[in-house]
Amino acid sequence: MKIGIIGAGNIGSTLARKLAKAGHSVLIANSRGPETLKNLADETGAKAVPAQDATQGVNVVILSIPFAKLPLLREFIARLPDDVVVADTSNYFPVRDGQIPAIDDGQIESLWVSEQIGHPVIKAWNNVLAVVLAGKGLPAGAEGRIALSVAGDDPAAKKAVMSLVEDTGFDAIDGGSLAESWRQQPITRAYCSELSADELRAALAAADRARAPQLREEMVKEFMALGDKITTEDIVRLHRAASAKA
Ligand SMILES: NC(=O)c1ccc[n+]([C@@H]2O[C@H](COP(=O)([O-])OP(=O)(O)OC[C@H]3O[C@@H](n4cnc5c(N)ncnc54)[C@H](OP(=O)(O)O)[C@@H]3O)[C@@H](O)[C@H]2O)c1
Repeated sequence: MKIGIIGAGNIGSTLARKLAKAGHSVLIANSRGPETLKNLADETGAKAVPAQDATQGVNVVILSIPFAKLPLLREFIARLPDDVVVADTSNYFPVRDGQIPAIDDGQIESLWVSEQIGHPVIKAWNNVLAVVLAGKGLPAGAEGRIALSVAGDDPAAKKAVMSLVEDTGFDAIDGGSLAESWRQQPITRAYCSELSADELRAALAAADRARAPQLREEMVKEFMALGDKITTEDIVRLHRAASAKA
């Protein structure tokens, strides 16, 4: 497939590495311009381009930028043809993104994103930590392969993104419609818990929407208490502990 990735941070750069390695043709962009992505492009074979160009001539656009900045992409995304698949890896963390009243009042995160950018999205890779995405993928059929859920409304678009999730080393399971995608938002049992396909299906079914924002805020407080001393192990441990309470 031809894939454009907007956002070249923890998640976007890892997706570029993995999807290029899987044989896809990858365009990658950030906010500062392609000249700042030369090393990543040299390493992965992905082509660094301005953000607008990452949406041109591709089958799939993956958005992997901070949640509150997604509306800035509307000028490129809203005019894309309907058959271009747009995948959204984002999560809303008010401490980082600022308060967004529509979401605080109950709008589903990826429905807000779709509205802001003017194109429906498929929610994927949002419920895996970057360090796990980078280091814990396995070939299809391998024992202990972690599953990730993919939510969205267009069956063909969801199928395309599920096949890309498989290409990144994870079992892809159908997480339902975008209206149901809160089931894989922070902090639910399905969020960053490194589950098998059967465990993830059970976690999605058992998700508790009312408690998720409260658990998210409690986890963020623990993150902040660790300050600069926070390690990758701390991040994994805190996410697991938070999700176990969900
Ligand atoms: N980190 C995780 O473990 C994790 C896990 C699951 C989901 N997520 C979600 O995935 C998304 C990305 O997270 P991340 O950790 O990869 O973020 P990150 O490391 O902070 O990287 C963000 C990237 O977005 C780019 N960017 C920001 N504004 C942009 C704009 N207007 N146009 C084009 N590019 C722009 C940045 O480019 P510049 O550096 O040039 O500004 C940077 O490459 C977030 O929504 C996050 O919640 C993260």
